[in-house]
Amino acid sequence: MIRFEHVTKRYADGTAAVDDLSFEVAEGELVTLVGPSGCGKTTTMMMVNRLVEPTSGRVLVDGEDISGVDPVALRRKIGYVIQQVGLFPHRTVLDNTATVPSLLGWKKAAARARAAELLDLVGLDPATYGSRYPAQLSGGQRQRVGVARALAADPPVLLMDEPFGAVDPVVRERLQNEFLALQATVRKTVLLVTHDIEEAVRMGDRMAVYGQGRIEQFDTPATVLGSPATPYVADFVGSDRGLKRLAVTPVTEADLDPVPLEKTGGTDGAPDPVPLGTSLKDALAALLQHDTGRLTVTGADGRPLGVLTPAGVHRALRRATVE
Ligand SMILES: Nc1ncnc2c1ncn2[C@@H]1O[C@H](COP(=O)(O)OP(=O)(O)O)[C@@H](O)[C@H]1O
Ligand SMILES: [Mg+2]
Repeated sequence: MIRFEHVTKRYADGTAAVDDLSFEVAEGELVTLVGPSGCGKTTTMMMVNRLVEPTSGRVLVDGEDISGVDPVALRRKIGYVIQQVGLFPHRTVLDNTATVPSLLGWKKAAARARAAELLDLVGLDPATYGSRYPAQLSGGQRQRVGVARALAADPPVLLMDEPFGAVDPVVRERLQNEFLALQATVRKTVLLVTHDIEEAVRMGDRMAVYGQGRIEQFDTPATVLGSPATPYVADFVGSDRGLKRLAVTPVTEADLDPVPLEKTGGTDGAPDPVPLGTSLKDALAALLQHDTGRLTVTGADGRPLGVLTPAGVHRALRRATVE
């Protein structure tokens, strides 16, 4: 859906902000671009909606070289969410959200109905918040309006530049989870820029780890954490990458021990069973809350497949890290 082919961007002063970048984002995929400040993430993103033009190379959206596409027409297909949100201070939340449909010439009532629907979708009751002004919202609420506004015209592509950067960690995690739930239903093709490795791992179907102007590794979070491609990536993801892997490694059948015979009777003190595919992090959290030291894991039919023990968690992590 989005394709970079040998893209280089050199600014007027000679800075190569990105250098010979090639990657592809599939339709409905969420790819995070992560790296330290100044490594070229925002430049990359802005070349997708032609706010920045490549010095060489091509960017394709939906199979089309965008250098030949009218930027206004292009941006209609691309929602854009930025950290500073950029809401119009003198317009209500409802009118801010309706901005793009209005620009597209929708009738006022239709644009507002759509805006109300989107506010609802991002967890803001339109009856309560629709008539407020941006200054009357919390930071987290403003971010939600930014997401609602970007989605209002139902664009297939969404660009998000540090979208949750301006809020405190607790609100950030809530917004991240809300957005993931939303993405599971709307399935946009998303590029999300962040300097936060935790966010990149949590949000990305795949992640691009940037060095200076280059992608050092482009892969699933589990693979980046388990098998960093270079010493730079290993350093960037952190020495606790084994722990971070817990959140992105699902429990598989190979990690389980047989259900012990005595277990079929009493279930005193036993955690509730979890389905196969639960993350090791959630499974470990459940294990730590109870004394039994094992967690029943069920298959698609809801029947127990086996039990996960702390040793099984350890095996799973070791295997995934050594592979
Ligand atoms: N308009 C510009 N003119 C000159 N240099 C720029 C401009 N925009 C960004 N840069 C430089 O390009 C590099 C990458 O910037 P940017 O893409 O904003 O990084 P990031 O988003 O990863 O923090 C930096 O060295 C930055 O100073
Ligand atoms: Mg940036």
